[in-house]
Amino acid sequence: MTDYPIDMSVKPQVEAFFDPATNTISYVVKDPSSNACAVIDSVMDIDYAAGRITYDHADAIIDYIRKNDLKLEWIIETHVHADHLSAAPYIQNALGGKIGIGDKIMVVQNTFGKIFNEGTEFQRDGSQFDALFEDGDTYMVGTMQAVAIHTPGHTPACMVHVMGDAAFVGDTLFMPDGGSARADFPGGDAATLYDSIQKVLALPDETRLFMCHDYGPDGRDIQWETTVASEKEYNIHVGKGTTKEQFVKFRTERDATLAMPKLIIPSLQVNMRAGEVPTDKDGRPMLKVPVNGL
Ligand SMILES: [Fe+2]
Repeated sequence: MTDYPIDMSVKPQVEAFFDPATNTISYVVKDPSSNACAVIDSVMDIDYAAGRITYDHADAIIDYIRKNDLKLEWIIETHVHADHLSAAPYIQNALGGKIGIGDKIMVVQNTFGKIFNEGTEFQRDGSQFDALFEDGDTYMVGTMQAVAIHTPGHTPACMVHVMGDAAFVGDTLFMPDGGSARADFPGGDAATLYDSIQKVLALPDETRLFMCHDYGPDGRDIQWETTVASEKEYNIHVGKGTTKEQFVKFRTERDATLAMPKLIIPSLQVNMRAGEVPTDKDGRPMLKVPVNGL
């Protein structure tokens, strides 16, 4: 994508934090020329059966940023996750920084605002976030320019964030032997996901790609980093010139066999509010379950 301002000579330092409970990888990305950093896709721990929320995973990120004397400028969500809760407000409380997501969050808020029968107090204009990105928008992490690329298909608001030679792909792609994410959530679309994946594969071959998830297929160790070149060659769902028709057929058939993620009900309610837990009429943190609603 020559339209996107990408500078491969900038090589940010990337620290990964794997969450074994949800197979999510969160990142701290540091500007090589200053102490500024960004957090990508943080995780808040939940024991859903007990309704208990804790912060071990987020605390590890906060400790890392403090110990290394970094200045947190951005807390980025690649999309509204359906399988883990964001810890963005908790991290913001501790360290500051702006919470950003794609501007199509409004579409997601509308869809799930209806499914969860939210009242009018639930704003569907993205105002829970500090910044809403459109395709091609840039922002600075210290002296390093970041660019947000709209990559819908898994969800309408998905974005890939590119910082120097590093791209945080969210759920657009998995590791080559993991393939791609499902496209059957409300607002998802397999053909759209294929087009979005092509945008990622059009980045320079040596771009470092960082996954949001890895499930260690066939028992291999968890991995989260690959390159555009190896995704193009080896990705089991889109590699070696897979056509859109082949991808859509495969993805649609596969998605029909998948169960809902274990944490989809709490995740959506929290993540569409930028990581805030909803409250009941007395102000107590409270989650609901729409029966046969999903
Ligand atoms: Fe996702």
